[in-house]
Amino acid sequence: MHEVKRVLRFKPWITEDDAKAVVDALMSGNLVSPYGKYGKLLEDELAKYLNIKHALAVSSGTTALHLALKAIGVGPGDEVIVPAFTFLATASAVLHSNAVPVFADISLETLGLDSSSVESKISDRTKAIIVVHMAGMPAEMDDLIKVAKEHNVYLIEDTAQALGAVYRGVKAGALGDLGTFSFYPTKTITSSEGGAVSTNSSELANRAKLLRSHGETGKYYYEELGYNYRMGELQAALAYSQLLRIEEIIKRKETFANALTEELNSLDNNLLILPRPKSYVRHAWHIYQMLLTDKVKAPRDKVVEELKAKGIEAVTVAYPIPLYRTPLFTNKVGHGKGCPWSCPFYGKKINYEPLPNTEEATKRVIGILISPYFTEDDALYAARVIKDTLMELK
Ligand SMILES: Cc1ncc(COP(=O)(O)O)c(C=O)c1O
Repeated sequence: MHEVKRVLRFKPWITEDDAKAVVDALMSGNLVSPYGKYGKLLEDELAKYLNIKHALAVSSGTTALHLALKAIGVGPGDEVIVPAFTFLATASAVLHSNAVPVFADISLETLGLDSSSVESKISDRTKAIIVVHMAGMPAEMDDLIKVAKEHNVYLIEDTAQALGAVYRGVKAGALGDLGTFSFYPTKTITSSEGGAVSTNSSELANRAKLLRSHGETGKYYYEELGYNYRMGELQAALAYSQLLRIEEIIKRKETFANALTEELNSLDNNLLILPRPKSYVRHAWHIYQMLLTDKVKAPRDKVVEELKAKGIEAVTVAYPIPLYRTPLFTNKVGHGKGCPWSCPFYGKKINYEPLPNTEEATKRVIGILISPYFTEDDALYAARVIKDTLMELK
């Protein structure tokens, strides 16, 4: 029985200043962000941080994705290329737009979309590509931007996991036509639930703004079918307060990640492939993603179970199954389940082809969800536990 010397459990970093901002919003009497001060402060600060013209606060990362797709006019008959190695929302936003998600493969280096696989999936119906900056690691954007430009399709960056990541000097979320963000508690900054959409296009920003609030152009005057995807003022206050110290948050996570890399590197075994951000990117370190090599004979679930039992409760498998293998996509989509009646494959059985790197990543990935509370010492402890466990189980 391994002695549990410390427990590494994810916790968001909430300060007195965060609490003060939330109480200030609460006592102001303006609880809806378009009328209170924090919604505007958050949007201005986020736009400044991303060095982009427009940032819109919304109710979640999921609604941010849906809003982005609606802003560019995705609808029935359209296809949107997405990874299958991602959280559901990347693809369900496409279904909610009554369009077809077309899955493309990922690179095993970044765990983000691979441009040549994306290119092979482009058809006359392709309207957009959604790239995910997986776990905080920027995808290889130069290649993806090139493919999007050549084929004249929109490029949306699902930056839910990567606020603060940088690719060749540009913030993730400011490289494509639109960026989307999540402020869920595990993300770089949190508003409890919440998210944002970013863009340099005033036209797309205006579309998103209109659809965010019922398509209302005048008091009780509705131009088109929209949604209530607004962020509450309390959420905006929390996100704004957090955004003011985002660099400190990322620095803490980076310190943990670098120490983990150093320690796992020096272990000199080839049981694990570690994350290796290229020199021209900054990783936002949402999750420290590793791949178990085939030298590890024990099932991944067993490794996870052992690490949890030894106190590494922040261990996570994101993601254990490609989206195209989940019933929402493999069964007859529709029939009152996932897909609205107007979805192009309503009632049809879809056979998605397996994507080799996606299959590989889902089988081998194992990660540590990094809390800003984790220290260098925690990293040394985690590395030791990981090493012992792998040596025992290999
Ligand atoms: C890649 C990705 N996209 C979208 C989302 C959705 O964000 P939210 O939970 O804020 O709706 C998440 C959240 O985990 C995510 O990881």
